[in-house]
Amino acid sequence: MKIAIIGSGYVGLVSGACFADFGHDVTCVDKDPRKIAALNEGRIPIYEPGLDALVASNVRWGRLTFTTEIGPAVREADAVFIAVGTPSRRGDGFADMTYVFGAARDIARNLAGYTVVVTKSTVPVGTGDEVERIIREANPEAEVDVVSNPEFLREGAAIEDFKRPDRIVIGLDDPRADAVMREIYRPLYLNQAPILVTGRRTAELTKYAGNAFLATKITFINEIADLCEQVGADVQEVARGIGLDNRIGRKFLHAGPGYGGSCFPKDTLALVKTAQDAGSPVRLVETVVAVNDQRKRAMARKVITACGGSVRGKRIAVLGLTFKPNTDDMRDAPSLSIITGLQDAGATVTAYDPEGIEQARPLLADVDYAADAYACAEGAHAVVIVTEWNAFRALDLERMGALMAARVMVDLRNVYGPEEATRYGFRYLGVGRRRAAATAPAAPARESVDA
Ligand code: UDX
Repeated sequence: MKIAIIGSGYVGLVSGACFADFGHDVTCVDKDPRKIAALNEGRIPIYEPGLDALVASNVRWGRLTFTTEIGPAVREADAVFIAVGTPSRRGDGFADMTYVFGAARDIARNLAGYTVVVTKSTVPVGTGDEVERIIREANPEAEVDVVSNPEFLREGAAIEDFKRPDRIVIGLDDPRADAVMREIYRPLYLNQAPILVTGRRTAELTKYAGNAFLATKITFINEIADLCEQVGADVQEVARGIGLDNRIGRKFLHAGPGYGGSCFPKDTLALVKTAQDAGSPVRLVETVVAVNDQRKRAMARKVITACGGSVRGKRIAVLGLTFKPNTDDMRDAPSLSIITGLQDAGATVTAYDPEGIEQARPLLADVDYAADAYACAEGAHAVVIVTEWNAFRALDLERMGALMAARVMVDLRNVYGPEEATRYGFRYLGVGRRRAAATAPAAPARESVDA
């Protein structure tokens, strides 16, 4: 199959490289000449484990090319994937469809022969209808079917998710488009991956419903974590206790500083708006959005409490800036609200992140960036773990404590437990761990279980 991918951002690039690796002939298109120039020189503009090698080998085999010219790529393609951004629109939170509809118009002008146009970007329900309308209006002769094929890629594990997906969802109404999609996903059909072929609107909504459900699960355990702190229970064990029920499942029950990233905050907001417009509000998701926003701000207060009620004039070491490990993505990262909250309360912040510092610099003013976790801790009155990078899982706590002005640890990812931290003399505050541990050495508690 010949495939054109419009938009060489995160989703476009990962999808393009993986489709090429399936054996297809893929052209990735982007309007940004600098991005295309970089890609043509073998530089990958995003950090995603394994992506550089996958791109390099498929480029070498001649199956993957990059261009700013949409015309030839679309004319030759059997399928054109729209993988441009759908950011939250300022003001109402609805997904901004400017880029998607712009891409539809650009595609329409260049269609030649039967082509399947696939929306891969996360798009509100009904977008497929609108994309089809735009294409038919701009090019009434076009032989085209519009299909929805949402991505479910996790940053940091995107290639694995693409090649060994939990499921593929394909929304279409025409058997000819079905045949093309089957050919494109042939290796996954052969591997008997679960593939749900359904209506276009159903596919579009499935993506939002999935992300909203996961965001709800996280928010649920976060609120249970707060309750654990008040009643002297341990959220890690509660999570394990409920997660072993197969109907609930163990995943996405890690309590923390609130979800962030490029998808959950944007997609929950867009679902709320779609549902309001449809006269069928999703009140549960509305609450999830509000609770998660409050939570990120509340985390700065947690640090202030751990520091005895004030951080004025104190230095706080923040470990981890990205919204999760194994990415350099700072979008809606909890670190942004936490650091700003601490600075507003009079603290000086030093931060370290293995991959995110360059992305963080323009977003966080007046932060001192350190070269590693220990340099970060030097002279600090508290160390705050915001992102659970592997590099922070086996810190030499004795060395770290010796460098600090005071041994206080706020562990917003429960990487350590009260027992371990207090062994090194730290005053420790985790998330949803027995509160007593913050003020006195913990009662002999069993070490945390992996949730
Ligand atoms: C998510 C979805 O998982 C993916 O299917 C979709 O296509 C895009 O959005 P991603 O944004 O890469 O992927 O991150 P994910 O690993 O899902 O984590 C999202 C946020 O939730 C992070 O801030 C993470 O720290 C937080 N999280 C996740 C928790 O706080 N607790 C958990 O148990 C799981």
